[in-house]
Amino acid sequence: MKALVNRKYGSLKSLTIEEVPTPSIKSDEVLVKVKAVSINDWDLGMIKGSSFVNRMQSGLFKPKLQILGSDVAGVVVSVGSEVTKFRIGDRVYGDLSNNQFGGFAEYTATYEKHLCHMPESMPFDIAAAIPQAGMLAYQALYDFIEIRDGMRILINGAGGGVGTYAVQMLRDLNVHLTGVDAEVKREMLLSMGYNAFKDYKKVDFTKLADKYDLIIDCKTNKPLSKYAKVLNDDGMYITIGGDMIKVIRILLGSKSLEKKYGRKYNCVQLSTNRNLPEINQLYEEGKLTSIIDPRRFTLLSGREAMTYYASGEHLGKVLIVIEE
Ligand SMILES: NC(=O)c1ccc[n+]([C@@H]2O[C@H](COP(=O)([O-])OP(=O)(O)OC[C@H]3O[C@@H](n4cnc5c(N)ncnc54)[C@H](OP(=O)(O)O)[C@@H]3O)[C@@H](O)[C@H]2O)c1
Repeated sequence: MKALVNRKYGSLKSLTIEEVPTPSIKSDEVLVKVKAVSINDWDLGMIKGSSFVNRMQSGLFKPKLQILGSDVAGVVVSVGSEVTKFRIGDRVYGDLSNNQFGGFAEYTATYEKHLCHMPESMPFDIAAAIPQAGMLAYQALYDFIEIRDGMRILINGAGGGVGTYAVQMLRDLNVHLTGVDAEVKREMLLSMGYNAFKDYKKVDFTKLADKYDLIIDCKTNKPLSKYAKVLNDDGMYITIGGDMIKVIRILLGSKSLEKKYGRKYNCVQLSTNRNLPEINQLYEEGKLTSIIDPRRFTLLSGREAMTYYASGEHLGKVLIVIEE
């Protein structure tokens, strides 16, 4: 089969299309013919080996995980003897980041627990965009706090995967939602339901007078003390990702941060695929879909897709559609 392979850390130029063996499956695994795969920040970090955390996961000096791509949608073509949930021909999707990635390829093998059935009406590209960003948005909104009427919520990095799913999850609720991102995303975000927009290149939201009950941060790039200053008395700050040192400080020291700054700090620790059934329901009720960049890529143009993603010029999720 063909796959987009990364044999050394560093530049995206080292990504190559190669002919590699189709994975064989164990008795509790499923082989999926990949139809579409979306790109996440994690893929880029693992290709570049940009942080210590990335290298801890994929090898200190050389990538052990050479075929990345976590968020896949496709068709089951083979099942192990112990698999109970899926049959050949099932349409499935899921985040494989807890199981060796492997989505930038024509076929991928994974345990059944990493996959979920797709609703019949859901196309593969919509599905492939959802798993990681959709779960991060869902778990940030529902795992830590009860969303109440009249809440003022800010999402930093609102134009990415997380922010575009979160606004749809909040649409029926009576909350005031502010998005922070680059100017080019203003119109799209306001039309999706954000009530206010701030361009991070022009203003620092932590220095303005506006206060929030909840901040969800995909960037975590300000001193942690600053977030407390723009939170109401019982407000909460939730990091999803960004500056790793700050994220780890919150993960390990949320109680001491609360004591020091008088506001609650939390960190989403992604539980992959956990709430895909709830997402399926939202999709079937017409309440949620994926915002996908109009440029489409194939496996053969996979390196171009990664380069485009890294440029930050995209609007919505960047998709690689696997040609027949
Ligand atoms: N907590 C966990 O367990 C876990 C698991 C997996 C991933 N993650 C992390 O979760 C995050 C995923 O977020 P996502 O999928 O929504 O990311 P994304 O799609 O890459 O979107 C991030 C958005 O932030 C914008 N942005 C860039 N610099 C900014 C700044 N200084 N201030 C405000 N906005 C800025 C980006 O714009 P441009 O496109 O213009 O740059 C983009 O629209 C990533 O940080 C990822 O590493 C966390």
